[in-house]
Amino acid sequence: MDIITQAPRGTEDKLPSQIYKWHTVEKIAAQIAEAYGCKEIRTPTFEHTELFQRGVGGTTDVVQKEMYTFNDKKGRSISLKPEGTAGAVRASLENGLLNEALPLKLYYFTRCFRYEAPQSGRLREFNQFGVEIFGANSPLSDAEVICMVEDIFKFLKLENIRLEINSIGCPTCRAEYQKALKEYYQQYTDQLCDTCKERLEKNPMRLLDCKSEICHSFAEKAPIILDYLCDDCNKHFEGVKQALDDLKVKYTINPRIVRGLDYYTNTVFEFAADNCGAQGVVCGGGRYNGLVEEIGGKPTAGLGFAMGIERILMVMDAQNAEYEQPKECDLFIAGTDPDSSRYALTLVKQLREYGFWAECDVVGRSLKAQMKYADKIGARFSMVIGENEIKEGTAQLKNMQTGEKSVVTIGDKFAGAVNSILMGID
Ligand code: HAM
Repeated sequence: MDIITQAPRGTEDKLPSQIYKWHTVEKIAAQIAEAYGCKEIRTPTFEHTELFQRGVGGTTDVVQKEMYTFNDKKGRSISLKPEGTAGAVRASLENGLLNEALPLKLYYFTRCFRYEAPQSGRLREFNQFGVEIFGANSPLSDAEVICMVEDIFKFLKLENIRLEINSIGCPTCRAEYQKALKEYYQQYTDQLCDTCKERLEKNPMRLLDCKSEICHSFAEKAPIILDYLCDDCNKHFEGVKQALDDLKVKYTINPRIVRGLDYYTNTVFEFAADNCGAQGVVCGGGRYNGLVEEIGGKPTAGLGFAMGIERILMVMDAQNAEYEQPKECDLFIAGTDPDSSRYALTLVKQLREYGFWAECDVVGRSLKAQMKYADKIGARFSMVIGENEIKEGTAQLKNMQTGEKSVVTIGDKFAGAVNSILMGID
């Protein structure tokens, strides 16, 4: 097949026949986030590559292997965003949002780009809904953010979603842990993949989420971070668990969750589901208390999450979830001749100003073909306008389902006259 008629590998068209499902998820996610006090932010699709190298981490798979990076015409290195957090931090700093009342609570919908091996639920261009909170360091805010995800899933009526949490400590307790990890992995150095051999020196924690099968198998018996947490980090984690218990949020502790991005500190979490591809993770997040400073701001606590919308829709489809149904065409006005079709267009305009979906013939079809089209698009009502109707100032509105007909005035007061009928009010 010719490549110009084929979408690039790992990308997907979101078709008109499916888009109402996206609207359902987007509407509920935004509504819940707003109930938690979040405001929407939109940041650019591409950023300076350095932002992700510094923010997400130069030894992560995402930055090392998966970024779409190119030089622009002035030779600047630019990357399509592989995730939303770094851009949200950069935008908050650049626009002084962190000088306003804290906590600052943001949400976003964004396309992300990662050059991964495509498979079910894993795309090269995918969509995230994310939330980032700045300036809140209490364990209560970790629990609040996790609870927000749970609320979104509850309102989407998703079932059997499993929440796993962990703490990966702060840089202090992590230093001890990294030492233990290095010692553990040194016995397998020869068998590690080339990237991990290199990472062992620079960032041994990254070995825990390497996707290569052999490295993955060693991760199972590796030391766990929970055994190395300092008192403060332990206390924080206890506080998070307690607050989740208060909120009746069910979780399990999974000490193997380290997340694939470098900015996390303390709490990390993942929500997993069946039916959304090999990895099963529909949402991931955690705390990142060092990130704002890393990107050039004052030390500021941060935390958040992002969910993959394609994966959520896969789970919803598999669970036969209910979506808000797409709007139907309210009325098709057919014209018996070109002059009547011109008149129909003025009536349709009135209806559209009332917020109705109204259609008339703009193709030049015969009356029979117009009615066939009205049927095809599922118009709830239809009306035929000809010379007589225009002369008399009235026409018949037909309910396509029941066949019931009512006479209505046409002319300037047309939309007002049919409003109650279209709204289904007697
Ligand atoms: P992440 O775990 O890399 O975290 O991605 C979040 C979610 O995006 C995943 O749980 C998954 O649902 C979806 N996702 C990731 N990669 C793909 C892919 N290739 N195809 C389809 N869906 C995918 C982050 O991106 C962090 N920025 C989350 C965060 C926000 N942490 C704190 N604040």
